[in-house]
Amino acid sequence: MQNHEIEATWHYHNGTKHPNGMLLNRFHVYHPSHRPTPYKIYKNVSQIDLPLNKTPIGISTLDAISAENIDNHIIPDLDILGRILYFSSGITKKIKFQGLGEMEFRAASCTGALYHIEIYLICSDIPGLGAGVYHFDPKHMKLDVIRLGDFRKFVSQSTADEPFTNQAPAILVFTDVFSRNSIKYQSREYRHAFWDSGTILANTIAITSAHKIPSKIITGFADSKICELLGLDINKEAPIVIVPIGQTMQDMSICPTMQEINIEAISSDYEIEYPEINAMHEASCLLTETEVKSWRHQITLERKQSNKLIPLGKNITTCESLENTIIRRGSTRKFSLESITFDQLSTILNKTTSKINSDFTSMESLSDIYIIVNAVDGLESGSYYFVKEKNALEQLRKGNFRHASGNLGLDQDLPYDASVTIFFMLNLDKILEHFGNRGYRVAQLDAAITGGKMYLASYALGLGATGLTFYDDLVTNFFSPHAENKETMFLIAIGKKEKPT
Ligand SMILES: Cc1cc2nc3c(=O)[nH]c(=O)nc-3n(C[C@H](O)[C@H](O)[C@H](O)COP(=O)(O)O)c2cc1C
Repeated sequence: MQNHEIEATWHYHNGTKHPNGMLLNRFHVYHPSHRPTPYKIYKNVSQIDLPLNKTPIGISTLDAISAENIDNHIIPDLDILGRILYFSSGITKKIKFQGLGEMEFRAASCTGALYHIEIYLICSDIPGLGAGVYHFDPKHMKLDVIRLGDFRKFVSQSTADEPFTNQAPAILVFTDVFSRNSIKYQSREYRHAFWDSGTILANTIAITSAHKIPSKIITGFADSKICELLGLDINKEAPIVIVPIGQTMQDMSICPTMQEINIEAISSDYEIEYPEINAMHEASCLLTETEVKSWRHQITLERKQSNKLIPLGKNITTCESLENTIIRRGSTRKFSLESITFDQLSTILNKTTSKINSDFTSMESLSDIYIIVNAVDGLESGSYYFVKEKNALEQLRKGNFRHASGNLGLDQDLPYDASVTIFFMLNLDKILEHFGNRGYRVAQLDAAITGGKMYLASYALGLGATGLTFYDDLVTNFFSPHAENKETMFLIAIGKKEKPT
């Protein structure tokens, strides 16, 4: 299947819609006692200790998530890389559950706490660490050694020599272990690959900016090359996104010869495959560097104009450090019905929608942001559209939509009780027309990164937040005619956490 044969995406997307997508079995059940081990375990590799320094470096969360275009030549050392990895995907808390034992939770939220995203590091010689290809082991804060030598050029070639990647001393690759998440979510898992990479990426970008190190999100690469480098079985674990970190003035050296690696690893102890995931992944693969080169064109979308606008309120400043926010973050399990303030909502919208440095857009976000306001002091309850260019809201309908909010969020209490529910939507046809099937990956990831930033902004403001899943077509209907022809990519609910009694 070729990238431009976009019926593959529509088949997958429509087939994995809640409630009746034909690729989902409505009677499927998952019990948490069957949760697969959420770590990739290598059997025969050496390991390197990663330093773990959680001390805040003095940048507030709101500044870190809204930083744009850092132009700097700082090279991360092992200490900084340890922090980038820890604050992206390290273990931040442990909670005991009756009957299930202790569960380890990570720096970024993840659907079902199934932690199916793995992170690899490919670097040159950097202070404290020799050039190599490594896998991040968050459980023991170690790097598994996969290859020694400078293989960055190999990654860069897979991106058709993308200029930023070409000059990065360190490159992260995120991969998705399908079956760790599909055990619960079946074929819808492939959406989660990007949602859960996006929430991690929000942390990654924020912590690198806090260190004044530039980074870029690269979605265009020849997939099979990365699999070869990392020794992945593409039917089980697939590369999702590449994140070059830092910039040097030097050209990359030629790679050592690529040899087959003799490593043994268990990615998941649950092995049932969902062929629709593999089919969607394959259909969105870029096969050669030539294809990557012609694929890479940033998109700019036209947005609807409106004249009845409500300007956003004031930006609140808070001084909580990024590190403390990440450590404190956790998805809210129960919202109180209390209101948040208009300035809090305004700050969240303002600070999280700055431009992301990526290979797919120079805009702030591909998605349009639609909001149900249940309880915001200073803003009438109703449905809204966020007009980023004007930093303003357009009211679509006024009224109490708590029931709709709860219903659209899969009839859960969380979206009913939250003060606002925020939906990321876009015209998928336009994205696919431009990017082919690969656009599906881009669209999901882009929305999730902003969603991940919203998690961080909410916690920095003393609020709670949670990602949610949704009834796809009901969301489109609810926000139509404004959202006609748009598909939902991500949903987050924000409000005040209910205090324990
Ligand atoms: C994209 C996304 C969707 C989620 N959907 C739901 C949901 O529908 N219902 C729910 O209770 N929690 C949902 N969660 C929250 C996860 O269950 C939570 O992130 C996970 O248990 C890890 O816990 P933590 O976020 O507290 O670290 C979602 C999280 C994400 C990132």
